[in-house]
Amino acid sequence: MNKRWYVTTAIDYVNGQPHLGHAYEKILADVIARARRSLGQEVFFLTGLDEHGQKVEQTAASQQKDTQAYCDELAENWKAFVRKLNLTNDDFVRTTEARHKACVQACLAHVNAHGHVYRKTYRGFYSTKEETFLTEKDRRPDGTFDPAYGEVIELEEENYFFRLQDQQQWLIDYIEANPSFVQPDYRRNEVLGFLRNNTLEDLCISRPRERLSWGIPLPFDDQYVTYVWFDALVNYISIPAAHGDPALRALRGFEGAANDGPALWPADVHIIGKDILKFHAVYWPIMLKALGLPLPRQLLVHGWWQKDGQKMSKTTGNVVDPVAVIDEWGVDAFRFYVLRELDIGPDGNWTDASFRDRYTSALANGLGNLLNRSLSMLRAYRQSIVPEPSGELSAEAQQVATETRALLEENRLQAALQKIWTLVDRGNVYVEQTKPFKLAKDPAQAKQLDAVLYNLAETCRVLAVLLWPFLPETSAKIYAQLNLPGVPDRFEAAAWGGLPKGHNVAQPVPLFPRKDT
Ligand code: MSP
Repeated sequence: MNKRWYVTTAIDYVNGQPHLGHAYEKILADVIARARRSLGQEVFFLTGLDEHGQKVEQTAASQQKDTQAYCDELAENWKAFVRKLNLTNDDFVRTTEARHKACVQACLAHVNAHGHVYRKTYRGFYSTKEETFLTEKDRRPDGTFDPAYGEVIELEEENYFFRLQDQQQWLIDYIEANPSFVQPDYRRNEVLGFLRNNTLEDLCISRPRERLSWGIPLPFDDQYVTYVWFDALVNYISIPAAHGDPALRALRGFEGAANDGPALWPADVHIIGKDILKFHAVYWPIMLKALGLPLPRQLLVHGWWQKDGQKMSKTTGNVVDPVAVIDEWGVDAFRFYVLRELDIGPDGNWTDASFRDRYTSALANGLGNLLNRSLSMLRAYRQSIVPEPSGELSAEAQQVATETRALLEENRLQAALQKIWTLVDRGNVYVEQTKPFKLAKDPAQAKQLDAVLYNLAETCRVLAVLLWPFLPETSAKIYAQLNLPGVPDRFEAAAWGGLPKGHNVAQPVPLFPRKDT
């Protein structure tokens, strides 16, 4: 069976409401998933929730709620959020599900049986907020720990450790030999720098039950639960295993996965934020090697959003609520802004003013205007009937399609949108240059007017195809206004000449109404 193209997002902690950063990552993954499908690949797109750990337990307790009931309640919000963003995920993982827990336990049993785990007493510091152990090395020059760790407690306890110490060199060699494994390059260099300049400490993968009960019990010692990161990373294979991935047969502890299903692992791309790179580029590969599994093909690491140049924070109220923006402006306006504003890699800055500017210039005056004037003129001058095909803009449109395809294959989403907008702008300039409103006044220019109207309508159709991964709702609306059946979800439909002569298009309806601000 052919392997499906498998894309994942990080799974979000369930202790709060979704914000701009979560939305951004999911939209990146969705565009990549849609683009691959459009290009003819079979895709599996996974997103979901990270529900274990002390943070979740504490938040639930602070609201006097049963932890599972609290997770169930929030999970509904997050699932609604996924629909709001118009994501095409094939599954939604929750780490409290039986199918996930079974796989985590199978992984733990495997690494334990193969000598990767041992027990020892740990003395040191612990950050609940980051669910991580800290050492003296983590202190800042003034002796304190970074405030990002929240309250740091000192503790001594027996725990299980996963061996990392002898794993450093092969990982360095692997990352050096596979430049595309961590992208962008500066993130790859960051990982290499970390690995070359530090000695890996073995990873504590358990938490004693009396301190933390909200986790997956270790299969070899039920007095302990699994460290939340060991649990969370496994989601990338637990769901494929639950679907019956043949590569994961040995880990299919879940009874529902008796039969072989689609081949998914290894993931083609894990999309993650820069803050969780170490977990994905160091711990996860070592876990996979210990499990005898291949590594994911790529970690694609995005930057962090700020708002108005400041860290987003619930306490100061400096946040962007994606749901409110979508309710006011539409999901595609939101998708467009985040994708067009920020390349995958650097940090970004949201301002309401730049959101409005992009909405007005690129969407309302750019794409929206092009479709509206094209269809309005076709209606005014040709009763909405498509004239004889003409290829004046064909070469340019085909060039844009070819280059867009190449950019999509490299996951260069911002560059692809910029490329697509060269065609939007070309269409609008074409109107200014050919002046159809003048041609219409002179019956001798009827043929020329036919040609212009064809080129405009066909350019809109090609744009709908190219835009499908990014702005699916808009793309579908363009197809509907062109009175074409279905949705433009096949890239090959971008070939010039799809609109047949004599086809009757529908009424123009503004795609992005201008807003008085
Ligand atoms: N639960 C872990 C991930 C486990 S993956 C096996 C986690 N959750 S999180 O909710 O804190 O973050 C989820 C994702 O959102 C991360 O990739 C993180 O980088 C991203 N973002 C959180 N805030 C962000 C911004 N302000 N901007 C962009 N992305 C950010 O970490």
